[in-house]
Amino acid sequence: MHMKTAIPDFTQQEIDAIYRVMAQRRDVRHFVPDAVDPTVLTRILGAAHLAPSVGLMQPWRFIRIQDAALRAQMVQLVEAERDCTASALGERADAFLRLKVEGLRECGEVIVVALMGQREAHIFGRRTMPEMDLASVACAIQNMWLASRAEGLGMGWVSLFEPQALAQLLAIPPGATPVAIICLGHVEKFYPKPMLEMEAWAQRRTLVDLVYTDQWGGAV
Ligand SMILES: Cc1cc2nc3c(=O)[nH]c(=O)nc-3n(C[C@H](O)[C@H](O)[C@H](O)COP(=O)(O)O)c2cc1C
Repeated sequence: MHMKTAIPDFTQQEIDAIYRVMAQRRDVRHFVPDAVDPTVLTRILGAAHLAPSVGLMQPWRFIRIQDAALRAQMVQLVEAERDCTASALGERADAFLRLKVEGLRECGEVIVVALMGQREAHIFGRRTMPEMDLASVACAIQNMWLASRAEGLGMGWVSLFEPQALAQLLAIPPGATPVAIICLGHVEKFYPKPMLEMEAWAQRRTLVDLVYTDQWGGAV
């Protein structure tokens, strides 16, 4: 097979940088409370909006939380779900409760990412898999994660909440639904590897075990 040379749009240094950002991106739960520069926040949201989306539906909506009382109520929601998760985990409950699972009180910025309503109108790429709207929002959040890391800011994705309760708190209309509480802010340092790995909750698997040829389980 003839191997064509790739289009040389980026220098080797730039190529290295994008892989380095991906490798050094972390889910962050320890923040220092300094404010996030609004121009940086605008760039990070701009990165989110550059994400791919099914049928170009751009189903993401961002709610910036500035009211301290609202943030405190969100902390309550997350705490309540943390307890429910611990109960559901059975014998791993204690180990789970020892983990830090969010930095909502300390982080400089809190942004809720929600799926828009009236998504039924968008059929292109969703007829058989309507959840592709959520996949699109996840792409936007990943862009925020990478942009934040490149900007030297930490970001954490918090999904420990009851979506209906959060929707009610933030006046999210019927049909729309929150999918992430994003904690964004300055950090002392980035964890060298996933915090859940450092805390021995789970380990990263080897890629070769997850890549198949031709059929599920087929050797590469
Ligand atoms: C969809 C999604 C939801 C997540 N929700 C939470 C959460 O509620 N609390 C938390 O501490 N981490 C959450 N995480 C972070 C993961 O635990 C983390 O990505 C994983 O352990 C790997 O670590 P890394 O992101 O630092 O590579 C979430 C990640 C994703 C992708």
